[in-house]
Amino acid sequence: MKTNVQIKTPSQQEKTLDINRIRKQFPILDQKVHGMPLAYLDNAATTQKPASVIESLTHYYTRDNANVHRGVHALSERATADYENTRKKLCQFVNAASTREIIFTRGTTEAINLVASSWGQQNIDEGDEILISHMEHHSNIVPWQMLCERTGAVLKIIPMNEQGELQLECLDDLLSQKTRLVGVVHLSNALGTINPVEIIIKKAHAVGAKVLVDGAQALAHLNVDVQQMDVDFYVTSAHKMYGPTGIGFLYAKESILEDMPPYQGGGDMIRMVTFEKTTYNELPYKFEAGTPNIADVIGFGAAIDFIRQTDIDAMAAHEQSLLAYATGRAEDFEGMRLIGTAVDKATVLSFELQGVHPHDLGTILDRQGVAIRAGHHCAMPVMQFFGVPATARASFAVYNTRSEIDQMFDALAEAKKVFGC
Ligand code: ALA
Repeated sequence: MKTNVQIKTPSQQEKTLDINRIRKQFPILDQKVHGMPLAYLDNAATTQKPASVIESLTHYYTRDNANVHRGVHALSERATADYENTRKKLCQFVNAASTREIIFTRGTTEAINLVASSWGQQNIDEGDEILISHMEHHSNIVPWQMLCERTGAVLKIIPMNEQGELQLECLDDLLSQKTRLVGVVHLSNALGTINPVEIIIKKAHAVGAKVLVDGAQALAHLNVDVQQMDVDFYVTSAHKMYGPTGIGFLYAKESILEDMPPYQGGGDMIRMVTFEKTTYNELPYKFEAGTPNIADVIGFGAAIDFIRQTDIDAMAAHEQSLLAYATGRAEDFEGMRLIGTAVDKATVLSFELQGVHPHDLGTILDRQGVAIRAGHHCAMPVMQFFGVPATARASFAVYNTRSEIDQMFDALAEAKKVFGC
């Protein structure tokens, strides 16, 4: 079935990447699964890690392991320098105005919970409205629902169309003086849609609302400039951008962070503690209570180095060409229905195959060495919209190749034979 997908292909000027050389940096890719070469196409769930990231973790634990911001000895100084160096790299990577605007969290989910809890506590009252979109991940739905339950605020939804694009024409009716916050995903994990966040931010700001953009899927695939975007909160996870699990960050404008109360209490977030009163540390430490995830912050820094050295625009161009190729093959594949056919999309091919449950597809593909994800992708309202319990999802990263996509379609043909459809 032909769709309206018009995936951009790389222009002549774009740097072309040596994918074989890049693949060699990812030791995990060089293996067989069930006797077949591994085709890892589950990058929206988590990306693989280059050797430089793995080595940075080993180096930290074999040479520099010490607590940060506390010690006066050499190891602590080295650990602190490397830890803070990642903050500097992230600040440059997203073009934040200051390192005071980069708060380390366990990942996207914790970053959103931090905002909902701290900013929400101070800024949301009964009758206020929080606007999110129909294609949000559960982590950008549930914290706001919990906040609404606590405060009596109302959760409203930006609808989407059959292509999996937000219906922006509804925004003017949905936004009002009551809207306090808009939460929207930058690149949908379930559909691949790239949302026009700049337009949403402008319209939200016009009614005085703040905007949180969920960038969990975006930062390894799109060039993001938080100042140009004028976004209030931007959140992401390292493990979807070639870095370790258990670490991510919240970017927020300094003026907003200054007014927010701490999220958690404990060590490092204080300036002075007495039994009568505690005063809090300056930004960003006010929001980083307790011993942080030092090793993974340092690994995150190595992942940023990898992306910068490889070149984000060249990576995006390569992935767009893979998505265009896979979409073309899907359109010619009988019985396949693509879920998410937005004109502006990246990296995700979500689909169902008539007569085969996505979980069965996942299992059959695994037997052929192909790793995809099957499920609701933590976006149940998206599944409800399309009337499916789950989808099968292939998602691409810089190290993927056309021959891996062919391997997936061969395995899909095999699945059709097994199920007689
Ligand atoms: N949110 C992750 C995914 O899309 C886990 O697979």
